[in-house]
Amino acid sequence: MSVSRVTLQILLLTAIASTVSEALKLTITPDRGSTLNISNSDVKGCKVCTGAARSRQCRASLLLKDNTPVSVEFDCAKPQDVFNVEILKNIECAAKSCTGHIIQSDSDLLPLLGFNRKFTWNLKASVSTAFKIDFSNTGLRQINASDSCADRHRYTLRAFQTTGDVAVGKYCKTGPISSAQILNRGSFSLDVPAGQKLQNGRFDVSVGEEIKSLAKMTLTLPKGTSSSELLSPNYPDSFPDDDVMEWYFNVPDKHKASVQFLKLRQPSCLKKDTAVEYHSRGRGALVLRLTDPQPEQNQGNFSLTLRNCEMDRRRAGSPGLSLNLKVFTSSISSPVSCKVDVSKMEGLTLHIKKLRPASDCEMKINSVPTETITVTSNSDLSFQDCLPEDVRVTALRVIGCNQLKDCPKTPINLSVPGLLPTCLPAPLSSATWTLRPPEHGTVELTSLSGYLKQSLPWLPCNDSVIIKLVEEDSTTVGHFCPQGAIQKVQIRTHNVSVTVSSTGDRALIFKNVLTAKLKEEISERYIFTVSPKRDTPVFLASPGWPAGMESYSTASWIISVPPKMEARLAFANISQPKCSNRHTSTKIQRVGRLEEDYSRREDEEAETEITVSETFYFNMSNCMPERGHFSAVTKITLQKSKNLLLMIILSVVAALLVIFVTVLVVVCVVIRKKKKKLNHQVSIYNPNGTVFLPGQNGLPETRDDNSEHEYASIEDTLVYTHLLRKGREIGMYGEFDTYRPFTGQTDSTKPLVSRNSDAEEMQNRAHQQLKSSSQEGPPLPIRPLSHGKRLVENEIYQAEGQSEDEHSPTLGPRLEPEGGN
Ligand SMILES: *[C@@H]1O[C@H](CO)[C@@H](O)[C@H](O)[C@H]1NC(C)=O
Ligand SMILES: *[C@@H]1O[C@H](CO)[C@@H](O)[C@H](O)[C@H]1NC(C)=O
Ligand SMILES: *[C@@H]1O[C@H](CO)[C@@H](O)[C@H](O)[C@H]1NC(C)=O
Ligand SMILES: *[C@@H]1O[C@H](CO)[C@@H](O)[C@H](O)[C@H]1NC(C)=O
Ligand SMILES: *[C@@H]1O[C@H](CO)[C@@H](O)[C@H](O)[C@H]1NC(C)=O
Ligand SMILES: *[C@@H]1O[C@H](CO)[C@@H](O)[C@H](O)[C@H]1NC(C)=O
Ligand SMILES: *[C@@H]1O[C@H](CO)[C@@H](O)[C@H](O)[C@H]1NC(C)=O
Ligand SMILES: *[C@@H]1O[C@H](CO)[C@@H](O)[C@H](O)[C@H]1NC(C)=O
Repeated sequence: MSVSRVTLQILLLTAIASTVSEALKLTITPDRGSTLNISNSDVKGCKVCTGAARSRQCRASLLLKDNTPVSVEFDCAKPQDVFNVEILKNIECAAKSCTGHIIQSDSDLLPLLGFNRKFTWNLKASVSTAFKIDFSNTGLRQINASDSCADRHRYTLRAFQTTGDVAVGKYCKTGPISSAQILNRGSFSLDVPAGQKLQNGRFDVSVGEEIKSLAKMTLTLPKGTSSSELLSPNYPDSFPDDDVMEWYFNVPDKHKASVQFLKLRQPSCLKKDTAVEYHSRGRGALVLRLTDPQPEQNQGNFSLTLRNCEMDRRRAGSPGLSLNLKVFTSSISSPVSCKVDVSKMEGLTLHIKKLRPASDCEMKINSVPTETITVTSNSDLSFQDCLPEDVRVTALRVIGCNQLKDCPKTPINLSVPGLLPTCLPAPLSSATWTLRPPEHGTVELTSLSGYLKQSLPWLPCNDSVIIKLVEEDSTTVGHFCPQGAIQKVQIRTHNVSVTVSSTGDRALIFKNVLTAKLKEEISERYIFTVSPKRDTPVFLASPGWPAGMESYSTASWIISVPPKMEARLAFANISQPKCSNRHTSTKIQRVGRLEEDYSRREDEEAETEITVSETFYFNMSNCMPERGHFSAVTKITLQKSKNLLLMIILSVVAALLVIFVTVLVVVCVVIRKKKKKLNHQVSIYNPNGTVFLPGQNGLPETRDDNSEHEYASIEDTLVYTHLLRKGREIGMYGEFDTYRPFTGQTDSTKPLVSRNSDAEEMQNRAHQQLKSSSQEGPPLPIRPLSHGKRLVENEIYQAEGQSEDEHSPTLGPRLEPEGGN
């Protein structure tokens, strides 16, 4: 090592000595992993030669790569004046780390001290991410292209874009620039003039962020009063077309910063506009024209983004965009005064609370010092030394009425005020509306745009806001985010609060996403109206999840299923209590149907998956739990209905059934008139004068008449039989203590309403009969069509034997007289 150093020095001396004679002779050993480029821009001028005697080669430039000593000779007296030396190294960054760092050292290049040297590190990051160079040990200061640095070490940053290379800037050591990030590919180089020894140094290279600009420079502004100058990339030439550059400023505590544009040259634009954007923690972007006065920044760190338009460069006298800006910092000692205009608060009252009593933050309202501020009228506020983390800004509104006729008639918009004054030390963190309908009233929340999505631990909101519904200040109904499938939420309550808060550091932006109505009482404690979209699974959690539902409370989801689609319902997470009184129930009932499609109590095993082919109710009602709790998360997926063919077949079957039944009625009436003693025929006789026949019993009979149809798919209808059996076994039909929707009165006198055709009506009645027949004792006050009549046992049980597929019943369409297509 030391031997070679000595050799090199000797060589150097030889080199200096040999300038006296004609040619300069050097021995150079390129560093491992680096490439040496010795070149003369004048190809006809002085040459650099390698090899001896016959293998001697002379060229205008020479490239050395290997880590072995090479003897080099120049064929002129002063090659230093015409030759430049560039030392190139490559650093590549993968997903997590880079292959090296920028290390300034020229121990192996002493023979070249007499030349202008350029040390270049070519850097490459994976696509769409940036590489980052950390300058925090010394800092850099930007200079213009014609400036030089006192230590004769001048740095250059370049970005290699697909549209061409961009000179991000030139820099001298010591300054506020603490790091640089360049998108994808770029270079960092250091120019050292002839005779200047290279100072040792090191800058760490790491994987940067996924930046949205060609480069992002980070500046750490010093404490006290200072100013820093920055130039747009390529300065004084034009900033690249339609491109973006970002500077991020770390502003010390209790300091303010202001930006001034010293020299601005605007391009003529073909498309878009030039703009400057300010972003700071917790505030939205402030987008300004370049000619606008630039605002003072007094809430900590901020970023400044410069955007260029698509320029019209062909037009004469259009040199493009260039900007020279200066950032001034100074400590804040004077209070910041602030005016809040209540008329812009959307009816909300602003609350500002000091969080840490020990902080230096001093708040005043109308010159009176205070710890909490409530702004109800236009007031003068003042803040001194208040940092964003020192205070919390919230907004509140109470909407209530004692009687339904006093309630607001029009829907109330729940929208967050657009722009709070930037002089407030912190942005708005949340807005709360407390809605108080009259007694026995309902709060109805409708989402105007995009509906709502249930926010669950495995499905957090990726939007910037979260909506929390809380009753009586303690019971959480749920957390929701914008953009989902829940169209409407109805809560029978005295008091519910809707809190919209921002997630993360972003500003709370929430415009008219929800409207509220105070309405008359509804039948359930909670009703959610859900419109799932195809291919997007919807998760629905029971109110209060993961805690259980309140004792005896009921929740219903009305889930719309478009025609030719079916909903697959899976109980992702169901928890059942042990009940001390009554039972929990989980029911599915298609809208407009009288029979339930599915029903389970807490002591029965639930199906894991159910398919429903029409808009349906999914209802949950709780018991009085002894221990444990009742809660569930349901996943609903829409898919194309697989049962279209079946629906067609069944329509035909149903039509035939109608004919068959009509014939049977005639026959029965005739027989009955003749033999009134035949007892078991009562079971198929309805006092209303309609005779029914259970569908399953009818099928085999129609089969002969309908032999061109395949009955392979009829299995689905057998599930129906299975349900009948299930229903009988668990006593779901008519057992009213498992699920009792609140109706305010007993509905035993409520007439049966069926929107379906006669055949279906008949079928429904058949069920009523079956239900009642399968019950031994329980009273059936809510089932008006029960007549306590009993079927002859074997009529039902025949069908039962055919039931199968216990674990994934498909509640597909069946006996659809109107047809399925
Ligand atoms: C060597 O440097 C010259 C002059 O800067 C340049 O034209 C040439 O492309 C370089 N060669 C390589 C391989 O980088
Ligand atoms: C470059 O900077 C120097 C001093 O910092 C200034 O005098 C000169 O006008 C600048 N040149 C340009 C083109 O801005
Ligand atoms: C500004 O950024 C720095 C470094 O990123 C951080 O340490 C500091 O807490 C930030 N200051 C504020 C007020 O957010
Ligand atoms: C509520 O918002 C809607 C839609 O933005 C608007 O049409 C309506 O006028 C607003 N209502 C009130 C009372 O502000
Ligand atoms: C949220 O995520 C969904 C899908 O995961 C995506 O489509 C949507 O763009 C995301 N929204 C935001 C604001 O990131
Ligand atoms: C309603 O909720 C608010 C807070 O959200 C609480 O202060 C108030 O006491 C509640 N009123 C009733 C009647 O529960
Ligand atoms: C179900 O919910 C409980 C909390 O109530 C949780 O611990 C568990 O991980 C959940 N299971 C699944 C499969 O999500
Ligand atoms: C389910 O709830 C709805 C209200 O959304 C109600 O109309 C329906 O009768 C309930 N169904 C059952 C089976 O309880």
